Amino acid sequence: MEQVDYDDSTFETFFSNPPAELAFDQLDLNRIPRHISCIMDGNGRWATARGLNRGEGHKAGIVALREIITACVRLGVDVLSAYAFSTENWKRPKQEVNLLMHLFAQTFVDELPLLKRENVRVVFLGDISALPKRTRDVFEFGLNETAHHTGMVLALAVNYGARAELTRAARLLAEDVAAGRLTSEHIDEQAVAGKLYTAGLPDPELIIRTSGELRLSNYLLWQAAYSEFYITSTYWPDFNRWELIDAILAFQGRDRRFGGLSKGREA
Ligand code: IPE
Ligand code: IPE
Ligand code: MG
Repeated sequence: MEQVDYDDSTFETFFSNPPAELAFDQLDLNRIPRHISCIMDGNGRWATARGLNRGEGHKAGIVALREIITACVRLGVDVLSAYAFSTENWKRPKQEVNLLMHLFAQTFVDELPLLKRENVRVVFLGDISALPKRTRDVFEFGLNETAHHTGMVLALAVNYGARAELTRAARLLAEDVAAGRLTSEHIDEQAVAGKLYTAGLPDPELIIRTSGELRLSNYLLWQAAYSEFYITSTYWPDFNRWELIDAILAFQGRDRRFGGLSKGREA
């Protein structure tokens, strides 16, 4: 059979043939969120529902992430962040943790050419020094290899927990004060934000959680202060470009007040 290579190289080809029920023509390309964040949940349930083991769900989840990375690049998103492994996920059976660490390393090696081609700069949120050596080495290699890229930032949250992040920030600030680099009066919101793993990145405007769970699970507690949430019952491996568009359409319909009044309602 003839092999047809799917062309995903432009916005038009990547987003061709939207599903009829999606209001794709309503999408305002001038109001795409700068920073989109995904809590990639439901890999295990996706697999179980198909009679597969959880590992197959994690593999399918990686394929979904690849599609969302490309989609965000084509949409001109500045930052895509993705929650891949939490500080609490170490509680899972050793076999699952080992498989995840192996998949992270393998995927990163496999996908590095894509990230390079798309000019994506990778950063990690979380303590990657605590990861198994091979995973850590591959991540550090990828960090260096993409450090000069000027396109989208892909922030991968691995061994990330917001409480650990905030605790670390407090410790770093205390060290600065003890060393005389900072006085306590200078500790303001900007100083705290500057010690988070996300330092220098805009806060997420849109946080997407798949698999229907209505919680943050220790994710970006500081940065999510004014994020818009989009929850879908879709399991992460089934999340795709069209559902991403649906999430952005929902975002574009929100009234973001930031504690003030609606636009157009100021006295
Ligand atoms: C998300 O899927 C991936 C990780 C947390 C590593 P889950 O593994 O949490 O899948 P469910 O929630 O058990 O279905
Ligand atoms: C959140 O999912 C963490 C990631 C997606 C990496 P979990 O599956 O760990 O969250 P809980 O346990 O349902 O809160
Ligand atoms: Mg889960």
